[in-house]
Amino acid sequence: MPGTCVIGLQWGDEAKGKLVDILTEENEIVVRYAGGANAGHTVVSEGQTWKLSLIPSGILRDDVICVVTGGVVLDPASVIKEIDGLESRGVRINGKMLISDRAHVVFPWHIAEDRLLDGSLSGGEAIGTTGRGIGPCYRDKVGRSLAVRLGDLYRDDFRTKFDHIVEFKKRLFAGWTGATGQDGKAIELDSATIYAQYMQYAERLRPFVCDTNAYLLDAVEAGKKLLFEGAQGALLDIDHGTFPFVTSSNSSGLGVASGSGVPGRWIDRVIGVVKAYSTRVGGGPMPTEQVNAIGEHLRERGREYGTVTMRPRRCGWFDAVAARYTARLSGVDELAVMLLDVLSGLDEIKICSAYTINGKRVEQFPSHVDDLKHAVPVYETVPGWQEDLSAVRRYDDLPQGAKKYLARIGELLGRPVSIVSVGPDRAQTIFCDWPGQKKSWPRHQHPAPANA
Ligand code: GDP
Ligand code: IMO
Ligand code: MG
Repeated sequence: MPGTCVIGLQWGDEAKGKLVDILTEENEIVVRYAGGANAGHTVVSEGQTWKLSLIPSGILRDDVICVVTGGVVLDPASVIKEIDGLESRGVRINGKMLISDRAHVVFPWHIAEDRLLDGSLSGGEAIGTTGRGIGPCYRDKVGRSLAVRLGDLYRDDFRTKFDHIVEFKKRLFAGWTGATGQDGKAIELDSATIYAQYMQYAERLRPFVCDTNAYLLDAVEAGKKLLFEGAQGALLDIDHGTFPFVTSSNSSGLGVASGSGVPGRWIDRVIGVVKAYSTRVGGGPMPTEQVNAIGEHLRERGREYGTVTMRPRRCGWFDAVAARYTARLSGVDELAVMLLDVLSGLDEIKICSAYTINGKRVEQFPSHVDDLKHAVPVYETVPGWQEDLSAVRRYDDLPQGAKKYLARIGELLGRPVSIVSVGPDRAQTIFCDWPGQKKSWPRHQHPAPANA
């Protein structure tokens, strides 16, 4: 079977982009199947840094096809900017990228709604969205009557549909006192201008737009090797994450089939990506957050500032309760532990292996966000290491402390660590193929979590 997926097991930014770029070498098609321009994936190679958002990280290789499927919410302005940016740096896009005609289109009103509504949760705490119109676009998709799919832009009756939607949105904004756009001015939806703009976008994107379901189903049936690039992280999954502090798509492994249009039976390798510690951008509980010198160490050494919004990321110890939950939820076979180098220089390192909630020890990740808010981490402490890891290329050459730390993460999550990253560059990667190590364990052979 030909499918591999790369799924972030935390709150996003686990370095999925780096891993996808590496794994692209052994795949023919890279598929982005959820989220939108809220994602920011970084690839570093030969001294050059690439920031990708809607376009799959496979685009940097020449012999690979990149597919953006119908599960994605597509901001045409963002994707065109990304195409222009890549082309100006010599990356060929034509003939290498397909975009689904089923992808839902982000309009300026979605971005305005996103900015207006964030912070209006009951309780007043903001989700801290990326402000890219993601939630409002998915909301219109589910609501159906105000939704536009990319394929609609090429239909003769689109203008009628468009005018109807704009009229409705205008009434919505008129009833929203104090509704202002990004620039602080009252939101005005000039239907003629927006229509003309989107018609231009449609022309620009025309060569890429097709039925990607048909393309991908043909590809898997022909035995082609597919790599699915997750966006966000499983803890941000709309159904299974830390609701309501989540994104609006199924960002865990459960979203791969519905988002891509490729049945799960074609996927035979699921790689769960974790940072060697935890980060989170935006609101919501994060039990292992360290608002102290440790948090600072992680933020500064890991350069933990958002790729999309440049916000400082919240940093803390590795949360094995959360990652074990998302590893199971996503059907993970093996683990990639990224940014291990960031932990060098600490005398001791902590791993959260359980929580105490209202005085009770809990090993399952709580389903209600209020319980997570009250979760006090139970930590195991392991010795740190001082050595710089950035030049290490073999598992055997890692310091003893780092090996023990990796082994404990694998044990707590019940999956083997098969890939370790010690720096942002493609080359700074360790493939762990020590004797007895299974690269991909069949699901039924997963060992039980160590403390289940
Ligand atoms: P993604 O959204 O999951 O693709 O991750 P991001 O690109 O948003 O964030 C990961 C950050 O870590 C990027 O700045 C990467 O260049 C960087 N990075 C990736 N792997 C490593 C690593 O092993 N060590 C260090 N220090 N940085 C890394
Ligand atoms: P990648 O793919 C980290 C977070 C936002 C916010 C919440 C909802 O780079 O890992 P949204 O704009 O989606 O409605 O915001 O989700 N978020 C991310 N955090 N990495 C991401 O993507 C994220 N995409 C969304 O910060 O808390
Ligand atoms: Mg990111």
